[in-house]
Amino acid sequence: MNAILDVRGLKARAITPVLGLLCFLHFLQFLPLAARAADLDAEARKLTASLTQAEKFVLLRGYFAITTPKPAGAIGSAGYVPGIPRLGIPALQETDASLGITNPNNIRPGDTAVALPSSVATAASFDPVIAYHNGALLGREAAARGLNVVLGGGVDLAREPRGGRNFEYSGEDPLLAGIMVGAAVRGTQDQHVISTVKHFAANDQESQRNTLDVQMPWAALRESDLLAFEIAIEQGHPGAVMCAYNKLNGAYSCGNPTLLNTILKHDWAYPGFVLSDWGGVHAVGDFAAGLDQESAAELDAQRFLADPLRQAIAAGTVPQARLDDAVTRILRSMLAAGLIVPPPAPASHDSLPEDVATARHAASAGIVLLRDQNDTLPLPGTLHSLLVVGADGDAGVQAGGGSSQVTPVGGYAREIPLGVSNALSFFRVSALDPPSPLAAIQARLPGVQVQWVDGRYPRQAALLAARVDAAIVFANQWEGESSDVPNLSLPGAQDSLIDAVAAANHRTVVVLETAGPVLMPWRDHVGAVLEAWYAGTGGADAIADVLFGMINPSGRLPVTFPAAEADLPNQAVAGMYLPVGAEVNVTYAEGADAGYRWFTRNRKRPLFPFGYGLSYSTYSLSNLRVQGGATLTVSFDIANTGARRGADTPQAYITSRTGKPGVRLIGWSKTTLAPGETHHVSLTADPRLLADFATQTNKWHIPGGEFTVGVGENEVDLPLTATTQIESRDLPP
Ligand code: BGC
Repeated sequence: MNAILDVRGLKARAITPVLGLLCFLHFLQFLPLAARAADLDAEARKLTASLTQAEKFVLLRGYFAITTPKPAGAIGSAGYVPGIPRLGIPALQETDASLGITNPNNIRPGDTAVALPSSVATAASFDPVIAYHNGALLGREAAARGLNVVLGGGVDLAREPRGGRNFEYSGEDPLLAGIMVGAAVRGTQDQHVISTVKHFAANDQESQRNTLDVQMPWAALRESDLLAFEIAIEQGHPGAVMCAYNKLNGAYSCGNPTLLNTILKHDWAYPGFVLSDWGGVHAVGDFAAGLDQESAAELDAQRFLADPLRQAIAAGTVPQARLDDAVTRILRSMLAAGLIVPPPAPASHDSLPEDVATARHAASAGIVLLRDQNDTLPLPGTLHSLLVVGADGDAGVQAGGGSSQVTPVGGYAREIPLGVSNALSFFRVSALDPPSPLAAIQARLPGVQVQWVDGRYPRQAALLAARVDAAIVFANQWEGESSDVPNLSLPGAQDSLIDAVAAANHRTVVVLETAGPVLMPWRDHVGAVLEAWYAGTGGADAIADVLFGMINPSGRLPVTFPAAEADLPNQAVAGMYLPVGAEVNVTYAEGADAGYRWFTRNRKRPLFPFGYGLSYSTYSLSNLRVQGGATLTVSFDIANTGARRGADTPQAYITSRTGKPGVRLIGWSKTTLAPGETHHVSLTADPRLLADFATQTNKWHIPGGEFTVGVGENEVDLPLTATTQIESRDLPP
């Protein structure tokens, strides 16, 4: 009898907070943002207070969930953190990542997913709406599998163009990267799934990522890598931030008090939680430095946030309040995402066709037309013969490697082992996502025999190319997590293949499937060049649509394409050829001037500049007006002067501040226009983009005086300029 009463009592205690929460969440949707934040804080604190000490520790410890047997309760994905069932707190089922829902080790047997284009491709769309829809797809597909944390939101800057994970990031500019990633995070979280942003911070290369010490002045970081995170967090309100593997100014990112406690949690008032990258925790002291949750703790040297932390709290070296704070942060993010009391499930429907369409739309919007001589493109439907060559174009499109690699719907089109290396062997397979570009091209030329040759023998390809109306050469470059590429040349004999085909046929189109910039010794000999990146499930159709003009290309480069490797700020990737685990320091020579800012500062003319991209139409910009004062407001007109409907992306840059030259993107507008149509565009600059970060005062400082603004089609080509006066002032951190 007593036992029954006890059980009833337990149940009653468990139900009360859940009912309370239900009313609370219903209420929440009617509250303005600040009130909602305060209520979330209060509710999370209340929930923390109802946990036992042992339950609090449950929430701090993640398990690796791609190994068999899976941890009890895990669905099978990158990570798992058990919940507290008696309070309706669900387990966190964490999945990678930004390019689709992954299935590492085939841990959910046979589960495939839509592969989105790489994040750098989405950044090339310069369209946050596309990033939002990609994020929503991730959230939807995660939720459909019972997964509730997407380890997405890669926002490290592509300051090292050979960096192996640049395809998971959103380019070299903090404003562009922050806005695009913030939109994707919002999209995911609107599906009631937590998203991370990662890898906090400056995980800008893969070589020696577990030991590398990035030595950069904090001011330079605040103006570049950290600004990208700051904007992404403001825009997307991610529930979690994943700290990085590398050290930053002497301390591991996951145990870096300046990074986590001071900047993220104090200066930015970030209310969510910090979870570690897999195997990224090095000491129990990381918890005091601001880490809240140890992911896949079995990958660390010890399970630091378990017994060692219990002992530290018992000994009083870590205050109980820190533990309660970490738990409150985790619960707050779960409450904010609606995980604790889930909203009613939407009516289920087959979202696959919708998701494939989303992926295809994103892939098309990110394709950048880099060159188009003598109207080589679009290819006319009246072609009588066509040759397609190279890069396994008969099978699929290139995918990047590592934890973000999706097992695509239909399975990989082809898998090519990359040989033994010192990197994780798990990641050393180059995979292609179906469907095949060759088939997509053939489908747009019914009745024409499209010829295919793999390109292994350039002379054979050239002989065939000489006999056809046009030739398309696919060229690719695999990149993946845990290693960087040694140089910016297309691997293998692809440059010779392109040269040979271009010499035989003046209507040669090169389609690049690369993670980022490559050198193009053949650029001036080919008719056209498209950068299609890693294009994912919708890639083949997107490429064919652009080639044949069903889609007017509108992508813009989110990274500089250098003319020569000697022009890069760092002549080699630090530590690349040392044995894994070598202690290496890197001081990125360009500092805050990542990417195009460094090229412009040093008067290096790139092969293709940041922001560059052509269209099948033409546009003109006029009537620039710039207003100063507290910040810059820029307005201008844009007109489609060509014969096709298309989207243009004019960009506004500061080109000098108080007489000192230096280029910074302050805004852009992607505008779709019918032929002859004109639009008026107005942009207001985020004042941080006018400022320097002063570490002495811990504030942004805008130097007052004359500012010059340039508006144009990329960071080099800025035909409209105007100057104005800006007030000197400090901004909060
Ligand atoms: C990667 C993270 C990823 C995690 C889980 C790590 O190796 O750096 O980006 O989310 O693994 O798979």
